[in-house]
Amino acid sequence: MTAVIQYLNAHRDRHLEELTGLLRIPSVSTDPARKADVRRAGEWVRARLAAAGCTKTELIDTPGHPLVYGEWLGAPGKPTILVYGHYDVQPADPLERWSTPPFEPTIRDGRIYARGASDDKGQVIVHVNALEAHLRANGTCPVNVKFLIEGEEEISSPNLGPFLERERERLKCDAVVISDTAMFAKGLPSICYGLRGLAYLEIAVTGTDTDLHSGSFGGAVANPAVVLSRILASLKDDKGRVKVPGFYDDVRKPSGSERKAFAKLPHRDAKFRKAIGAPDLVGEKGYATLERLWVRPALDINGMWAGFTGEGAKTVIPATAHAKVSMRLVPDQDPKRVAKKFAEFVRKSAPKSVKVEVRSLHGGQPWVADTSHPALAAAGRALKRAFGRAPVFVREGGSIPVVATFARLFGVPCVLMGIGLNDDNLHAPNEKLELDNFRLGTDAAAYLLEELGTANLADAGAATAAGRSRRKRRA
Ligand code: BES
Ligand code: MN
Ligand code: MN
Repeated sequence: MTAVIQYLNAHRDRHLEELTGLLRIPSVSTDPARKADVRRAGEWVRARLAAAGCTKTELIDTPGHPLVYGEWLGAPGKPTILVYGHYDVQPADPLERWSTPPFEPTIRDGRIYARGASDDKGQVIVHVNALEAHLRANGTCPVNVKFLIEGEEEISSPNLGPFLERERERLKCDAVVISDTAMFAKGLPSICYGLRGLAYLEIAVTGTDTDLHSGSFGGAVANPAVVLSRILASLKDDKGRVKVPGFYDDVRKPSGSERKAFAKLPHRDAKFRKAIGAPDLVGEKGYATLERLWVRPALDINGMWAGFTGEGAKTVIPATAHAKVSMRLVPDQDPKRVAKKFAEFVRKSAPKSVKVEVRSLHGGQPWVADTSHPALAAAGRALKRAFGRAPVFVREGGSIPVVATFARLFGVPCVLMGIGLNDDNLHAPNEKLELDNFRLGTDAAAYLLEELGTANLADAGAATAAGRSRRKRRA
């Protein structure tokens, strides 16, 4: 392994320089004006996979943005891992809040600042560099590696599910490896075994055909902004519980041992609160902060607009009012069923003075896994070798919609070993990646290839649904 790490040490500068090349491409998947840039980023990743030593690479067209596939399968008889990640990014606005422009990567204070630095371009490249290091230093890699890097994660992966179903054979693997999450704290590597799901909807309230003078009509007609506010306010009670009927029906209770494990993590509410500049923390009564983030669902307004929002005052009753509302879901909630219950509740609460429309924008399944699979143990050893500390097990409040699909379709373990930090400003101005994490994350990814090469993954259906049903059938 020394040769591999030596290789990485000798090529750190080039690897960082290359990352800035990818970060310069504004691959904002939700923005139709960026369609060509998204493709350009995909092609960049494909070319980088080829340069790193993948023997086959492909930019695969979909009805949306292209998928990138690459493979190195030169270790017959050894396990095969599938590295998943995404090269698309979130919009960079508000631009004026960035200290340096989002698509002009800038290094300061040991960090690289750019949209996508942490989510997820930097974290993807770590695995590409790790494979390159094995191939260049040793002429071979201890495991077979497939890459599937998509361009639509930030718009909930609409074309990935069908692709996975169709291409199951080509994507066959013994474990999926993903770096697209955060470490619990700087210097404390983490393995994530649970993600929340998502149901995202938009509400439109319409009163009259056109905006009205609020003097001529105020007091005689419904104001859609007021009606919308009342509907939104009725979604939660003052104990922080969501009032949509049936919302909690399928929520799985965390076990006592899981809650105890959370309580042992180095978390302090006061520190957490100060780090995000919040005057106070809120949430559902009876649950600690990490529990509210990881094992309890949440409902939030992500945007709302109506009437006049410009400088100064305009006396107007808006014809329409809008809100975007999302719910973070936990096992065993189903995004479609939750969205339906939500829409019914909102429609029912509309007075007859307005028209209320609810439409679902997108969703993703929640995911939780067993932590006892040998692939996770291998990842734990790899992280320890790189970071000098054994990882903690964490869950995430965020979502990666495809993970549940991988688990269901492939029946293999998903190893989430993210190297982001909670203060990386994902989806926000001044997104960054710590250069230490880029370096140690690359080392960990390289160690992982070695550890998985000797791990006994083959007969370890242990922690997977497929393994369970295999054993059941045998019994
Ligand atoms: N990498 C994030 C998921 C994530 C968020 C991990 C926070 C760790 C902490 C991913 O790119 C993401 O942003 N997912 C979206 C999914 C959505 C667009 C369907 C999310 O969680 O909002
Ligand atoms: Mn991501
Ligand atoms: Mn993201």
